[in-house]
Amino acid sequence: MSTIRILCIGDVIGAPGRAMFQKHIDRLRAELKIDAVIVNGENSDARGRGITPRIVRFFKHNGANVITSGNHIWGNKEIFEFLGTAQQDLLRPANYPRTTPGIGVTIIEVQGVKIGVINVMGRVFMHEHLDCPFRTVDSILTYLKDKTRIVVVDMHAETTSEKNALGHYLDGKVSAVVGTHTHVQTADERVLPKGTAYITDLGMTGALNSIIGMKCEPILFKFLQQMPAKFVVEEEPPFVMYGAWIEVDTATGHATRIERVKIVDDAICSKDMDAA
Ligand SMILES: [Fe+2]
Ligand SMILES: [Fe+2]
Repeated sequence: MSTIRILCIGDVIGAPGRAMFQKHIDRLRAELKIDAVIVNGENSDARGRGITPRIVRFFKHNGANVITSGNHIWGNKEIFEFLGTAQQDLLRPANYPRTTPGIGVTIIEVQGVKIGVINVMGRVFMHEHLDCPFRTVDSILTYLKDKTRIVVVDMHAETTSEKNALGHYLDGKVSAVVGTHTHVQTADERVLPKGTAYITDLGMTGALNSIIGMKCEPILFKFLQQMPAKFVVEEEPPFVMYGAWIEVDTATGHATRIERVKIVDDAICSKDMDAA
């Protein structure tokens, strides 16, 4: 049986997240015999609320094959135009209106094998006006059908139930459904009965002692006072990198394995963050 391994990394938060990615990705690739890397970069700018063209190039330079995103893709205006260009490496959720800049699906080729990557966003407690993520993936699969059987879906959503539902809906139709957006890794990774690898949330890459990557104080202020507060990326160690890798049978496109990844590192300093 010929297989391929794909590593998916959860939402990278600000400079510490980028430094973690840069420091650990090559070793992970080698140790786990990874063929392709998909990273969610929606929070990877300095404020943890977007991505820039420079950061897209940073991820590519450091070995990411595809960068997925979510609701924070629109945090930097310079990315609007960038998404409208012909580049195929940065995805925004596919269920935005057809006229919105960017694409939500791409096909990459590694080791002579084509891998389709789809990014969609949930609607429950999020953007209820987006197109249906279930039907959006259905229609993309029609397009991918004669191109590749290996397909990974990044489902960027708030509720576990909506991600769970998409996993079961796509069981047997795609290689993997991995959740992002909630930034907390779930321990429910498994291969579903018909061969789709599934995890509700990959987790995040950034500061461990934080509230989903951001400094605690302003968020606590907001919860306690019910007033607006400016959220700031937490840059104090220790840092974590969370994700999961999947193994896929290239003949069937079905997953044979899914394993969680968790790295904790307290040695990253501001110099590493500046370099990332
Ligand atoms: Fe996020
Ligand atoms: Fe998000």
